[in-house]
Amino acid sequence: MARPRSTNKLILFLAASAGAMLAAYVFWSFAADVKALLEHRMGANPSASADTVINIIKLVFIGIIGYIFVRALNWLFFSLAFRLKRIDAPTLIRNIFTIVAFTILFLLAFTALFPDVKLGALFTTSAIFGVILGLALQDTLGNFFAGISLQADRPFQVGDVITVGAQRHTGVVEEISWRAIKIRTFQNHVVLIANSNAAKEPIEVCPRDNLNARIVFFNTLYTDSPAKTIHVVREAVREADNVSDKVAPIVRIRSLGDNGVDYEVKYWLVDYAKYNDTDALIRQRIWYAFRRAGLNFAFPTRTLFVERPSRAAQRDGDGGAIAERLSAVDIFAPLSADETSMLAQAAVRHVFAQGETVIRAGDPGSSMFVVHKGRVTVQVSENGRPRTVATLNEGDFFGEMALFTGEPRTANVLALEETEVLEIGHAAMKRVFDTNPDLVESLSFIMAERRQGLASQTDDSATNTHSSAGILSAIKRFFGI
Ligand code: CMP
Repeated sequence: MARPRSTNKLILFLAASAGAMLAAYVFWSFAADVKALLEHRMGANPSASADTVINIIKLVFIGIIGYIFVRALNWLFFSLAFRLKRIDAPTLIRNIFTIVAFTILFLLAFTALFPDVKLGALFTTSAIFGVILGLALQDTLGNFFAGISLQADRPFQVGDVITVGAQRHTGVVEEISWRAIKIRTFQNHVVLIANSNAAKEPIEVCPRDNLNARIVFFNTLYTDSPAKTIHVVREAVREADNVSDKVAPIVRIRSLGDNGVDYEVKYWLVDYAKYNDTDALIRQRIWYAFRRAGLNFAFPTRTLFVERPSRAAQRDGDGGAIAERLSAVDIFAPLSADETSMLAQAAVRHVFAQGETVIRAGDPGSSMFVVHKGRVTVQVSENGRPRTVATLNEGDFFGEMALFTGEPRTANVLALEETEVLEIGHAAMKRVFDTNPDLVESLSFIMAERRQGLASQTDDSATNTHSSAGILSAIKRFFGI
């Protein structure tokens, strides 16, 4: 089994530390011998030269061990102490701590080993050294100080979505180090933007804990009513995943375009980092909602004469398939071919996307549905959580309870996949009942069974009391049979 990278790094770090300390220990033990050997080999003033070499080697060892010590201190302080307090220490702060602590340790060791060398004088008097260092570190220091100002200013934090730079790189901030801002783009690429560049550029910040909005565009034909369009789209968008329920989506007309009426829908996201998926989902939901509501997208066209097939011809086109579907529904089995075809003509076809609500519990309802293609789930709310009562497949029907009794819908019905349903209204069913009074009885049995199913889930004593005889008389009363 592969070890996690952090464990490997820790093992490597411990091994390197142990190696360095062992080497230092061995060197310290034999320092006198090494010195004697060096003195023996060296010419004039052998003692002073040998001491310098030994001290330089000692300084190197102290440097290595000091570095290890500072790293360990850094880890103890930031990874443990900060994490206990549930704060994530910024990388820049960690790096500054490492640099300062290491420099102090190194200078202490240097002055202890070389008391004669005046470090201050070395730095202040060497103008050339200063110029070289300044030129070499120009960019690095620029980034470093820009990084400090970013940390102090905190215009954004790890996890926020930002857009930065002339090339408008957009992504989620992963790290702000002493050199650069690291962002992960929505193509999963990593982009590093030098702090000094970022400090000069305008940065668009979408903070994680802020309600950020997006705008999606669509259009309709000029013949489609704006009031209906706005209502249909607002409801469709409101239900989509990752759309915040804190602010209602705004749907408005942007312009009266060449091909149709141009709209925009502005919505607020729960997680802004997923805006691409959410925009796409919203476009999809608009398509399905348009389809059900009979609205039309406007696309560029040069057709001047449009020949529409008559409504009757349109029905005949798929009327056969609908009649076939209805005749396979068990409660409609006793109907004659003419009656089934009458029902098929009255049926209206709707399409729903996966997850969309076909029927909402508590709503009034004056129609029933037959699953033409796909599957739906019947759910009731139990202690605030959805509980599945039944799954209905092609040829099954639902929504009969509200239709036949006039009571509100008893359950939520949601599409489990893209689903086509056939909606049959009150008038068409009344015509069927008038000629087939027996149908009422078989329906009342099914409804009594379903009510029992609902009652066992919800423990609703009101639903329990409905026997099939009670339902039968309720249907007859409601339809005036
Ligand atoms: P209605 O009350 O109009 O709306 C919700 C529908 O869910 C309901 O009609 C029934 O058609 C259906 N339903 C309720 N309970 C069950 C059940 N136990 N089994 C199958 N369908 C059910």
